[in-house]
Amino acid sequence: MLYIGIDLGTSAVKLLLMDGTGQIKNIVSKEYPLSFPKPGWSEQNPADWFTGVMDGLLDLLSDFDKSEVAGISFGGQMHGLVMLDENDEVIRPAILWNDGRTVKECEYLNNVIGKKKLSEYTANIAFAGFTAPKILWVRDNEPENFKRIRKIMLPKDYIAYRLTGVFSTEPSDASGMLLFDVKNRRWSPEMLEICGITEEMLPKIYESYEATGCVKKEIADKLGLTANVKVAAGAGDNAAAAVGTGTVGGGNCNLSVGTSGTVFITSDTFCVDDNNALHAFAHADGGYHLMGCMLSAASCNKWWMDDILRTKEYAKEQETIQKLGENQVFFLPYLMGERSPHNDPLVRASFMGMSMDTTREEMTQAVLEGVAFGLRDSLEVARSLGLSITASKICGGGAKSPLWKKIIANVLNLKLEIIESEEGPALGGAILAAVACGEYASVREACDAIVKVVDTVEPEDALVAKYEERYQEFKKIYPAVRGLYQNE
Ligand code: XUL
Repeated sequence: MLYIGIDLGTSAVKLLLMDGTGQIKNIVSKEYPLSFPKPGWSEQNPADWFTGVMDGLLDLLSDFDKSEVAGISFGGQMHGLVMLDENDEVIRPAILWNDGRTVKECEYLNNVIGKKKLSEYTANIAFAGFTAPKILWVRDNEPENFKRIRKIMLPKDYIAYRLTGVFSTEPSDASGMLLFDVKNRRWSPEMLEICGITEEMLPKIYESYEATGCVKKEIADKLGLTANVKVAAGAGDNAAAAVGTGTVGGGNCNLSVGTSGTVFITSDTFCVDDNNALHAFAHADGGYHLMGCMLSAASCNKWWMDDILRTKEYAKEQETIQKLGENQVFFLPYLMGERSPHNDPLVRASFMGMSMDTTREEMTQAVLEGVAFGLRDSLEVARSLGLSITASKICGGGAKSPLWKKIIANVLNLKLEIIESEEGPALGGAILAAVACGEYASVREACDAIVKVVDTVEPEDALVAKYEERYQEFKKIYPAVRGLYQNE
């Protein structure tokens, strides 16, 4: 049988076709626009996602026997606010995970309601990208839209709803709404009251690997699928990526270097960072995880290459970079503000330390290093909690670059384990679909059978020591510049 994983990303949707043994048969990708209507705002049109998914599915399956398709599932960009009215029409463009407009709402939640209460209700505090502060923003800034809300859903759940007609979500993605009691895997009545919404407006919760329904007949007909293709609830893209890299069970780590950059640490049991610097979320294997998320990771390099250097030759730009650990130029990767660990939507990116002899290579290198330092910031929080992390999987577009992987391994002092495919969330989605269809008894069993480590990148003592010095310098920059950005 065949299984489809749909990774609803920020720049594009990626669709992956896998057989029952885990062999990847095809991958296609469809881009869609991302709009920044004001500085720090980030929106997308859910209709564009759906068009991308439908076009992508047709392309994905064009050379395959469609009657073999048994299941579909998802990894999706997290935290996005999608609102539907009484006719199931989208009320306004979705407000995305990297949108920083909710400074006031987060201040209200964290300081008036209070971090202690929020953490008690949800295991987390308010960050600008989370869903609950956005609901408050709509209530206060677009009251007409707020009145029309009948359904609130996350990006991938919107796609699932359009495909199946079932209004569903699952714990890994729901964790990022600040409406969900992560420990008990249910909606938080206190948070719903604070946001002025009711439980009827929120989807039913399934586990990630559970089937919620089947593809609707009219959609199956359009795609040439049979009537009984099951759809599993899926996962937020980071939890799906963790499944796709076999980061399940307890005490394992995955780094995702995509549009965002995340450090994802699994736990069999519920756990919370007492300072709430790391997110305490549910995992797609039935367990839990801690996660640090930087808002701009591979997107920093994309911005630097595409928009500033105006080149598509990413590998060529990196070829001449040699002096690792010795760069005098620093880059602060805060193009969209920063989530973990600073929780500062107003800070912005900067280059520091240039002189008349600074080269293009050094600035490119600084961008790659700045992202690695940002990941290290989150890893340091995890280490300060007593978690011993010495190895990690890695996935995402940034994991395609051998140089970037080497920098990350040495800046974080981690052995990186490279998986056959860096398509973490799409593969994770396909694995969840296979579990929902009974191909495997559990997510862990499926990962053991499917995910293979094919290479490693070891940190080198001398380079780790050099980067340690550079990181200590990097750490001084944010406290020195943050005051420049505090007035909205
Ligand atoms: C995680 C987060 C990002 C998005 C990217 O908290 O906001 O990783 O999920 O799609």
